Amino acid sequence: MIQTVKAEDDSYIVQTEKPKIAPRLRFSIRPATEGDMPELKKIRRDMGIHDVPTVFQTFMKLDPEGFRVTVDETGKILGSCSIVLNGDDSDGLYFGGIYFVEPKYQGTGIGLRLYKTCVDHFGDSDCGINAVAGMKKVYRDRGDFPVEEKDWVCLKNQTPNHVSPEVLSNIVPPGVDIQPFQDSFLPEMVAYDQALVGLRRSLLLSMSCNEKNSRTFVAFKNGVCVGFGSVKESCLGAARVGPLYADDPAVAEVILRKLLESFSDRKGFAMMTISNNIHANSFLRRLACPVKEECHRLYNKQRLIVDTSKIYALFDINFAVF
Ligand SMILES: CC(C)(COP(=O)(O)OP(=O)(O)OC[C@H]1O[C@@H](n2cnc3c(N)ncnc32)[C@H](O)[C@@H]1OP(=O)(O)O)[C@@H](O)C(=O)NCCC(=O)NCCS
Repeated sequence: MIQTVKAEDDSYIVQTEKPKIAPRLRFSIRPATEGDMPELKKIRRDMGIHDVPTVFQTFMKLDPEGFRVTVDETGKILGSCSIVLNGDDSDGLYFGGIYFVEPKYQGTGIGLRLYKTCVDHFGDSDCGINAVAGMKKVYRDRGDFPVEEKDWVCLKNQTPNHVSPEVLSNIVPPGVDIQPFQDSFLPEMVAYDQALVGLRRSLLLSMSCNEKNSRTFVAFKNGVCVGFGSVKESCLGAARVGPLYADDPAVAEVILRKLLESFSDRKGFAMMTISNNIHANSFLRRLACPVKEECHRLYNKQRLIVDTSKIYALFDINFAVF
């Protein structure tokens, strides 16, 4: 039996009948900071996950208490978990992710303690998560996320290979104009995003589009935003596309092609799609980018219903609901 006991200085001590597993392990939990970025980046890279460091930084700024790390007495990061606010105001929805514990310390109670600290952060608000297959039942049946999305799953598509954007169309539908991001486009993009996802995310969109090494293209028809997409550099140096939203699949396809063309020195490609968006998944097949893993969407209270036919790539697997 393993127990974590709170010490007087707010750190935790692991008490175990198997001291070989966790000899004198003492850890504490604190908000992640900019200074943790190189270590977090290395950990996620070693795990082969296409997380985007600049997205970590954006969410650390948007919700500084939401992204937590566990550290040992030397300050080494042993694990992380985040549950961050999505939306400009407190009526927004929380979203959780980046939940891991270093393999050597798994099964010692660190993960559950960290998770509970993050769960306390969203209180009584609505919250969602993406669960890997092996964790779905744990969160659903023994955790805080009993409501399962049954209509679709998230598909983690990734390849270390070069993908050829030429397999995608570059024919822009009549009346549509696709332009590189400018700050002046933000009000239109925020309105489009809010109509689609149901949350006002003006701060997130502004910070996301201005992240280092991020490129965004925005589609307009008669001066009205009809879609947009971003590409960012993953911790493995790949082009990670997300978000990619559009009313028309032909527009999404041209934006995706432009995003890939704009990031020529990419080392691979990653994009997370929704299983019931047929067009999005056909782009991935044409790009010869396979599905690596499926993730299941769970909520604590109720499903968030959106028109998934307009969602070609999720914003980010760890931090954003769509
Ligand atoms: C998932 C992970 C973070 C859990 O961390 P951990 O330190 O090994 O977990 P703990 O030792 O604290 O678990 C103690 C108990 O709480 C359970 N538990 C852990 N996290 C939980 C959660 N979020 N909700 C409910 N129960 C949980 C465990 O299943 C375990 O139950 P058991 O004693 O019946 O087996 C860790 O195993 C890991 O890094 N796995 C690989 C990455 C991964 O799959 N992350 C999840 C992505 S969705």
